[in-house]
Amino acid sequence: MNQTQPASNDQPIEDRVNNRSQRPTSEAFKTFMASSWAPSSTELPARAAVADHAALRRRAVSEQFTGERLVIPAGPLKVRSNDTDYRFRPHSGFAHLTGLGLDHEPDAVLVLEPTAAGAGDDGGNHHATLYFRPLAGRNTEQFYSDARSGEFWIGARPTLAEFKAQLGLDTADITELELAITKDVGDPKIGGMSIRLVRKADENVDALVDTARFNTAQNPEELDLSELDALDDKLTEALSELRLLKDAWEIEQMKVAIAATAAGFEQVVKSLPRAAAHHRGERVVEGAFFARAREEGNELGYDTIAAAGNNATILHWTRNNGTVVEGEMILVDAGVEADSLYTADITRTLPVNGTYSEIQRKVYQAVLDAADAAFAVAVPGRKFRDVHTAAMEVLADRLQAWGLLPVSAEVALSAEGQQHRRWMPHGTSHHLGLDVHDCAQAKRELYVDGIITEGMVFTIEPGLYFKNEDLAIPAEYRGIGVRIEDDVLITADGPVNLSAALPRTPEAVEAWMASLAG
Ligand code: GLY
Ligand code: MN
Ligand code: MN
Repeated sequence: MNQTQPASNDQPIEDRVNNRSQRPTSEAFKTFMASSWAPSSTELPARAAVADHAALRRRAVSEQFTGERLVIPAGPLKVRSNDTDYRFRPHSGFAHLTGLGLDHEPDAVLVLEPTAAGAGDDGGNHHATLYFRPLAGRNTEQFYSDARSGEFWIGARPTLAEFKAQLGLDTADITELELAITKDVGDPKIGGMSIRLVRKADENVDALVDTARFNTAQNPEELDLSELDALDDKLTEALSELRLLKDAWEIEQMKVAIAATAAGFEQVVKSLPRAAAHHRGERVVEGAFFARAREEGNELGYDTIAAAGNNATILHWTRNNGTVVEGEMILVDAGVEADSLYTADITRTLPVNGTYSEIQRKVYQAVLDAADAAFAVAVPGRKFRDVHTAAMEVLADRLQAWGLLPVSAEVALSAEGQQHRRWMPHGTSHHLGLDVHDCAQAKRELYVDGIITEGMVFTIEPGLYFKNEDLAIPAEYRGIGVRIEDDVLITADGPVNLSAALPRTPEAVEAWMASLAG
């Protein structure tokens, strides 16, 4: 028992988590712990390559919201269990506008403060400040006592000067955030400051903004919350739409993520013999990929799907506790998230023993043909939805030819039909970037009804999924799921398959697997 803690029921419940540490509370201990440490380095990092790009992104946002304060939180650490947190990952809109990646920075908030028109950063209409909890000095109690942010526990964190030098934007201590967010907020009609917030990233910041709006409203009881939500939603929408076109730095990061993912798939292939001999072979495959994700990148961009046999027909099979059986296929959908937080999203469907059976090859080839048809229309000027349509035409035709469709392909492809979607129920493409399903808050007319434009990065990922339980198809098809997913960059000359290093055709997949065997 720690003698310095009250051994009674009076101890607040939230303090009890610290009992196990038995940290002394004597003044002698505190004084000694806060002394005799070498000073922290004062060397400043170089300006990051992303800084100029992030400045242009902030400038684009600034132009859309002249005269309004914009608040973009990174979000807090999230509890996984008791006093154990998930690995931190900032909100993608925050990462995009600051250029921060890795585990930077819990509780940070980017505030774009309006200036006179043209008098802001880089001639824009706002001045950006990043508020965060800077590294505490080694002579402070936080240094050794705060297990969530103290250097003694989690290593050195950035100082205000370091982030300023690295990111090229002003920085301030998080203790100044409340005033920065709340000052002068009020009804713009009478000279108050209008504020827009990326909501739901950090509930403490949500509460701060709500309180400021409530306290400064002329008639708080008449505050129209849906109107305020709409204000905030417009900012979230704008940040999502800003990411529809990737800049040169982002495209490089996508290539980094995709190269690491390709390396991960090599490990997947090499793991198959061990997976086939293991009672939870899918986990062997998942683990082989994950090792690469941590070695080469920050993390996974999303939970790996390692789905063997009939599990490949379960679209979001991430339990991955099944067996991997010779003669079956395994569908692996996996992506490495780079340190910059950009992620790949690639699927390959592999024969476990290295050779596709006749029926497996037949289904695989249909999906590949659908993907190729989708690539053919993924050109600037076409509609995003045309990519899906092209893939569906191939799959409906093939399903008709195999006698699986209860109607003609033509009827199935009509809006009133869609019977083919029983076996391909998901979309063929989604934008890809900081989020695996990037730009998800963009307006429909810029996304699914949008025009394919140079600088877009999206997936092409048709599939066919024939479940064991599917009585609408002959037995020979059952238990086969195939998806082929590639990551595509749109250029003036058409689509570039960024994931082309991973073989796609059945012959190339077999040759690749053979080359990695043994
Ligand atoms: N891995 C998720 C997706 O393909 O959309
Ligand atoms: Mn995808
Ligand atoms: Mn995927």
